[in-house]
Amino acid sequence: MRFDRYTTPHLPSAIERMGAALREWPAIIQGGMGIAISHWPLARAVSLAGQLGVVSGTSIDTVLLRRLQDGDVGGHMRRALAASPWPDLAEQVISRYFRPDGRKPNQPYLRLPLWTLDSNRWQETLAMLGGFVEVWLAKSSHAGRVGINLLTKVALPNLAVLYGAMQANVDVVLMGAGIPREIPGALDRLAAHEPATLRCEVAGMPWAESPLIRFDPRSYASAPQAPLRRPAFFPIIASLSLALLMAKKSSGRIQGFVIEGPTAGGHNAPPRGPKRCDAAGQPVYDERDAVDLEAVSALGYPFWLAGGFGSPDALDAALAQGAAGIQVGTLFAYCAESGMTMDLKKKAMAAVRADSVSVRTDPDASPTGYPFKVADIEGTLSAQTRYEARERVCDLGYLREAYLSPTGKVGFRCAAEPVNAFVSKGGRVEDTEGRKCLCNGLMATAGFAQRQSSGTVESPIVTSGDAIREIRGLLTSGSDSYSAQDVIDYLTRGRRRHEEG
Ligand SMILES: Cc1cc2nc3c(=O)[nH]c(=O)nc-3n(C[C@H](O)[C@H](O)[C@H](O)COP(=O)(O)O)c2cc1C
Repeated sequence: MRFDRYTTPHLPSAIERMGAALREWPAIIQGGMGIAISHWPLARAVSLAGQLGVVSGTSIDTVLLRRLQDGDVGGHMRRALAASPWPDLAEQVISRYFRPDGRKPNQPYLRLPLWTLDSNRWQETLAMLGGFVEVWLAKSSHAGRVGINLLTKVALPNLAVLYGAMQANVDVVLMGAGIPREIPGALDRLAAHEPATLRCEVAGMPWAESPLIRFDPRSYASAPQAPLRRPAFFPIIASLSLALLMAKKSSGRIQGFVIEGPTAGGHNAPPRGPKRCDAAGQPVYDERDAVDLEAVSALGYPFWLAGGFGSPDALDAALAQGAAGIQVGTLFAYCAESGMTMDLKKKAMAAVRADSVSVRTDPDASPTGYPFKVADIEGTLSAQTRYEARERVCDLGYLREAYLSPTGKVGFRCAAEPVNAFVSKGGRVEDTEGRKCLCNGLMATAGFAQRQSSGTVESPIVTSGDAIREIRGLLTSGSDSYSAQDVIDYLTRGRRRHEEG
């Protein structure tokens, strides 16, 4: 796939805009996968192979700190920090968190305070540097394009992460898990180094009255700066109504869509019809959840299809339906360059080979209340006994929701925090049932498990698309690993044959 020089489409008609964009963007987007599954080595490998590599910006402040505390193997964090536009702040971060010999046995990671509306400059700094480092490394020594993925629901750090990513010249921002209607305008403002705001959704408060999350880039500049390039914005949507809203009523311009179906790994949009569950307690999707692709197409933006599109035939089918290509997560999640621990990748691959793996769409696992896919991998929180044995702790807090307290103050709560704490904040006890601490679980999956004060080490949790068995096609006989390039070769196999023939 070819990389043309990037230009923001500004064409008179929807058809021309679509045509230009189709020529401009790669057919394969490697889906953003948090926490640190699509870390910079994976995104870089995909971009080097001519497709769109995407880093995850979720909890990237904590990821940066944990890498530094683990000795910054390879020196990549320090190299990227040194290249940042804020060398003094970068130096302060290194002197505070870098441990040349890593952590001592049993030593817990230093934590950051949990994000609130009054989060301080230090937290903002770490989020900004985290976004910068991840994109800068993913873009290093090649001319390919790189995107960043953020969850709309994890709203508090997002502006700072985006500004850091934009300082590293990120090409695309992709966001789902919520309605990112304020992001396009925020990107315009950040590109001009102007203060940007997002509304913080507060349970019990009308949207229009909800407080603002503010980020002011000027407070980090010592001298006036030239405008930054404004990245493209691709909202991740699961319905035509959301596509229409993003195209017509968002705060600025979008450049494309990712349309994600309910078989995709990670969080899924809830079913649109009445709440129904199958015999295994999984939400039931039906024709109401299908997105009218013709209607999306008529909006004139390129779109990529996600969720079970990780095969050469699916790529062909997507292109035949007018898509610009596909977004694939699951196949990349287990490849050699992904951030998942080697131990978990091996276990997943062994289970795939033995045909013993299953993926459950768990309606309760995520504190967000969105369905979340959990792969049944040995030694993870998918085992009920392991889940029940975990003492509830909320020490990362990215998925906390804001709520209005009876005294009129805005507080934060998480349905996976200790039940008493959640209930004392007005939460309903039934909402805590089955809720898993995805913050700690996903950190552990990427090799950053916290050792809690009780002495226990957090267990991982593996999310995966329903199509996990597709990775069998990549495991050639005897081999128990494959690369990002192998995934791309596999996905484009049919097309290459077609072109060669
Ligand atoms: C391990 C894993 C983590 C994911 N994390 C995120 C995430 O943080 N944000 C997001 O928008 N999508 C996330 N996704 C979804 C992917 O970006 C992608 O859309 C999806 O995996 C495509 O479907 P597939 O899994 O069938 O390939 C994740 C998927 C996987 C497999």
